[in-house]
Amino acid sequence: MNLAVIGSGGREHALCYKLRQSKEIEKLFCIPGNAGTKKLAENISEDLSNFDGIYKIIKEKKIDFVIIGPEEPLVNGIVDFLTNKNIKVFGPDKFSSQLEGSKAFMKNLCKKNNIPTANFGVFENLEEAVTFIKDSKVPIVVKADGLAAGKGVSICQSKEEAEIKAKEIIEGKFKSSRKVLLEEFIEGEELSYFSVVDKNTFRFFGSAQDHKRVGEGDVGPNTGGMGAYSPANLLTEQLEEKIKKKIIEPTLRALKKMGHPYKGFLYAGLMIKKNEPYLIEYNIRMGDPECQVLMMRLKTNLIEVVKSVVNDSLKNLKIHWSDNSCMTVVLCSKGYPGNYKKNSEIRNLNKIEIDENNQVFHAGTYEKNKKIYSNGGRVLNVTCAEKNLVLTRNKCLNNLKIINWDDGFFRKDIGWRVINKNENNKR
Ligand code: AMP
Ligand code: GLY
Repeated sequence: MNLAVIGSGGREHALCYKLRQSKEIEKLFCIPGNAGTKKLAENISEDLSNFDGIYKIIKEKKIDFVIIGPEEPLVNGIVDFLTNKNIKVFGPDKFSSQLEGSKAFMKNLCKKNNIPTANFGVFENLEEAVTFIKDSKVPIVVKADGLAAGKGVSICQSKEEAEIKAKEIIEGKFKSSRKVLLEEFIEGEELSYFSVVDKNTFRFFGSAQDHKRVGEGDVGPNTGGMGAYSPANLLTEQLEEKIKKKIIEPTLRALKKMGHPYKGFLYAGLMIKKNEPYLIEYNIRMGDPECQVLMMRLKTNLIEVVKSVVNDSLKNLKIHWSDNSCMTVVLCSKGYPGNYKKNSEIRNLNKIEIDENNQVFHAGTYEKNKKIYSNGGRVLNVTCAEKNLVLTRNKCLNNLKIINWDDGFFRKDIGWRVINKNENNKR
C-alpha cells in the first residue's frame, strides 16, 4: 500500500515515523515534508491550497491513502474534494471542520446541545460588542472567529483593551472572518483530550498538556506550542467519563444529525475547573506538538487506526499505549513568535542517539548538501520517554545540550506545574 501524509511540521514527521513501523506500507510520501520526513518518506513539494496539484501527485504516485495533518486544507474542504474523486482520505469533511474553522459555529453547537463552555457573544457590529463588554466582568477573552494561526485570542485585563482587540477583528485584522467572539474567562487547568472517530463510534486517543506561551513560567505571547507532555495527570477516570458524556458524545451526535458524521482525529482543548470540564476549543486534527508525544506512546500500529476510521470499523480496534511519561521540547528560532532569521545551519544533530524512546522530530527545517538549516519559527522537537516526567525532561534537556545552534532557544520548564506539584507533595 502507498500512503501520503500532507503537511510539513513536527506533527507530520511524527506521523511518518509511526507509519514507517508498518510493513504494510510500501511507499510513503510527505507533501511537502521537511528534512526529517525526507529520511522516512519521499518529500514532494506542493502548495497545500492547490488541491488539483495534490490530486495529480496522488494519481501519478499511485497513492492509496491520504492523511491530512494541518487544519487549513481540512477547513478548505480537501476531504470533500478527494472523496469526490474516490480517494481514501483520513480527516473530517468541510462541514465538520467548522468546529475549528469557525469559533461561532462551535459555540452555537455547544449552546444548542448544552455542552459546557464559557458564556459568550458573537458580534459583527462594534457598538453591540462594546455594549457586551461594558456588561461583562474582566478578564474578557476576545477571539477571532476564523483561523488565525494561533494569534486570534487575547485575554484582556481591562474593558478598554477588550474594545481595542474587538475593533481590530471587526475591521478585518484576520482575513478568515470579521466576526468577533467575546467570552467569559474560565480559571482552571488546561487539558488536551484526543479522540479518534469513525461514523459509528469513537476511541480515546491520548491526553496531553501543551505549553502555549513563549516564556518559562507560562508568560509572554501565545505560540503554536513550546512543548508538551503525555499523559496529562489531570485526567482521572471520573473526569474522563464527564468529558465523554458532556462534551464529545453530544458533539458527535449533533454533527451526525446535521448529516455530517465526523471522521478523523478530534482534539478537544478543555479547561478543568473544580473537576468539571469546559470546552475551550475544538481542533479537527492532531495537535502539534502533542502528536509527537502521542506517537511515541502509541503501541498500536497507526495504519490500523487510520484504516479502521476510513472503513468505519473502529469499534473492533483496541488501542494500546505505553505507560511511560513522554515529553517534547520545541527548539525555536530566536525571535519566534515574532520575526526570526531563516537559513541558519543547525549542527550536531547526528550526535544524538536515537531509539524508540529518544527522537528528534523536525518541523521548520530543510536539508542542503547534507547539512540541516532552519526555515521556520518552530524548528525541532526533542522528544523522549522515561518512567517519570522528571527523568523524561532531563533526557530532553541533555539531548538539547548536544545540538549546536546559536540562533535557537527553548523552554527548560516544560511540565513545570506537575513537576513542582509532585515535589511539593513529597516535602
Ligand atoms: P484557543 O485558541 O481558543 O485555544 O485559545 C488559546 C488559549 O487561550 C487557550 O489555550 C487558553 O489558554 C486561553 N483561553 C481561551 N479561551 C479561554 C477562556 N474562555 N477562559 C480562559 N482561558 C481561555
Ligand atoms: N498545540 C496546539 C495546537 O496544535 O493547536
